[in-house]
Amino acid sequence: MSTMTDAPPPSQPPPPAPPAITAYDVRRAFGEVRAVDGVNLEVRHGSVTALIGPNGSGKTTLLLMLAGLLAPDTGRITVAGLDPASSAIARSRIGWMPDSFGTWDSLTALEVLTTMASAYRISKEAGTARAWDLLRTVHLEEFAGAPAHTLSRGQKQRLGMARTLINRPAVLLLDEPASGLDPRSRVDMRVLLRELAREGCTVLISSHVLSELDEMVDDAVFLSRGRTVSSEALLSTTSSRRRWRLRSLDGERLRQWAFAAQIPLFPDSDAPPGGASVLIELPDEQSAAHVLASAVRADVPVSSLAPVGGLLEQAYLSLDADRR
Ligand SMILES: Nc1ncnc2c1ncn2[C@@H]1O[C@H](COP(=O)(O)OP(=O)(O)OP(=O)(O)O)[C@@H](O)[C@H]1O
Ligand SMILES: [Mg+2]
Repeated sequence: MSTMTDAPPPSQPPPPAPPAITAYDVRRAFGEVRAVDGVNLEVRHGSVTALIGPNGSGKTTLLLMLAGLLAPDTGRITVAGLDPASSAIARSRIGWMPDSFGTWDSLTALEVLTTMASAYRISKEAGTARAWDLLRTVHLEEFAGAPAHTLSRGQKQRLGMARTLINRPAVLLLDEPASGLDPRSRVDMRVLLRELAREGCTVLISSHVLSELDEMVDDAVFLSRGRTVSSEALLSTTSSRRRWRLRSLDGERLRQWAFAAQIPLFPDSDAPPGGASVLIELPDEQSAAHVLASAVRADVPVSSLAPVGGLLEQAYLSLDADRR
């Protein structure tokens, strides 16, 4: 007979993994320019996190420091629990993809990868197998024998991604990896990064294509003039006044309904042609459902109601910062 004491102890949830990347009060100047001027961040293990900010806000400088390729003036950085500037072990766990690549002389695409594999002391046989695997992953098998410098920009970018993955990094630092990629390759990259995250890899990715990041990332870190802006604060203020585009086949009826229902309308300067289009501010999806139901009840011929831009784009536009 089984008794309470026979029952297995209740399983404890595993303790949360420490953040894969941390930076505390990190600063780096180039002469008079304070490129990174007080960055604080913690990137969750196994997450895909966006690094977002205007031109010159310090993204590349920060990524270089996280990759251990540039020393901070002050502050503390850890990647996989170690300081990347002083730890070769930390650097061996990092995959760094710069925003542009140097020339690869006359190496073929396959040789670029096998050379990288041998730099990581992977055996010749395993390195070649891994190189072919990655060429398949980025759909470049047919270019294996082509000199890398003859590849198109987008193909080079994909080869660069394969090169970054050769050592199965635990942490991926990607600086605008999607620039130059065609729509199909962008989708492939999104799928690949989500898959890597599922396998436990942590991804920090900078990009200006916010709609793309919206669909891919778990978290976002915003930089403005070298400083991190609290993303929670940013996203909550942004989402509390999110704009939606309401389109109707009959502009007059739309305005009459909005007046009667006391819903303020904003002019839609980017309205697509045809029909009538206005913007309204709504706090959440539930309010959107109510507004839609109310308009339909009032016989407004609504053709669509959808948020304008993604959350990240709205947060970005609300950044109190300009380009430099
Ligand atoms: N090696 C350098 N020497 C001097 N100034 C630099 C150097 N690298 C970066 N800077 C300056 O530091 C600031 C941040 O540059 P950084 O390249 O980090 O910006 P970014 O956010 O990556 O911009 P972008 O979106 O254009 O790639 C800029 O004002 C830039 O001019
Ligand atoms: Mg940059």
